[in-house]
Amino acid sequence: MKIKLFDIREDEKNFAYSWGKVNNHEIVCVEEHLTLDNVSSLEAFDAISTQQLHKYDDDIYEALNKVGIKQIAGRTAGFDMFNKEEAAKHDIKITNIPAYSPNAIAEFAVCRALELVRNINKIHKRVTNQDFTWDENVIANELRSMTILVIGVGRIGKVSAQLFNGFGAKVIGYDPYDQSCDNVEFFDDLKEAISKADLITLHVPANDETMHMIDEETISYMKNGAYLVNTSRGITVDTKALLKGLNEGKIHSAALDVYEHEFDYFAYDYSNKSIEDEILKDLLSRDDVLISPHIAFYTKTAVQNMVEISLDSALEVINTGKSLNEI
Ligand code: NAI
Repeated sequence: MKIKLFDIREDEKNFAYSWGKVNNHEIVCVEEHLTLDNVSSLEAFDAISTQQLHKYDDDIYEALNKVGIKQIAGRTAGFDMFNKEEAAKHDIKITNIPAYSPNAIAEFAVCRALELVRNINKIHKRVTNQDFTWDENVIANELRSMTILVIGVGRIGKVSAQLFNGFGAKVIGYDPYDQSCDNVEFFDDLKEAISKADLITLHVPANDETMHMIDEETISYMKNGAYLVNTSRGITVDTKALLKGLNEGKIHSAALDVYEHEFDYFAYDYSNKSIEDEILKDLLSRDDVLISPHIAFYTKTAVQNMVEISLDSALEVINTGKSLNEI
């Protein structure tokens, strides 16, 4: 079988070629996106895998069908770039990677939580200026004396809860749909849970219910000086309300791996370009905010899983017409 991987990054290539060798299939890696202009190049191929985050042209599914391609194996968890209905109309099965490594994201959340709680950003800035003093601005809390609220106790939230438990913290949870996690005290009311927490970590999906779940109102229920970590999706936090909470001292500090208007910026190099987004500029300028470019997932294990699971799913669809990872 001959499989083409679009949008390939250097770090993915070796995993793809090794999979091809082990499974005896021919692998072709290209950096370009799948578009209407290059779909005709697929006539000699049996299957494809993609990584594009922007929406596909609705005509792509018919074009794929015409060249004999029956599936698209996405290499991400998200699948909002696909039009499921259009794909189904043209018999294209789409698969995603539901979970490539919950630990990767959970460990990053814990890492950022520790950085906030230990004031690492402030200490680093002082030391860079050869200021080696200690004072109340950098005195820390210890996780074992804190209550951590995990909002969204699914695959990643469960691992986060476990890791925070490992530090001796009291872990509480808010998840209306899944309360199956040991050592977590669940609350049915979000505001009550928020009012009990010293640090909140978000692990919910992006949907209408979770849109701006951290807003001016929920922030008003936070303890004074609470910490916020968001490694879920940008839209879960109303960034303007967060900035207000930080300016008023209600929130001590926040770590954002995701940002509601991240799409023009994250994963791109802006080192020689100016940033137009005033809110992002504000976030980047502050020492009480840690920004990272949606990178929590980015471990070798996760990348290997993303490549291999997508290729396994492609094979499954070609051989059996279905896959457990079909969206
Ligand atoms: P999951 O589906 O396993 O867990 C999500 C949990 O949230 C579920 O238990 C669900 O019941 C709960 N939930 C749904 N609506 C809720 C609500 N309104 N309030 C509270 N809980 C609610 O998802 P998973 O795999 O744990 O992913 C969590 C988040 O992490 C997703 O937003 C995903 O996009 C994001 N993510 C971020 C990455 C990064 O690199 N920063 C990488 C991978 C995932």
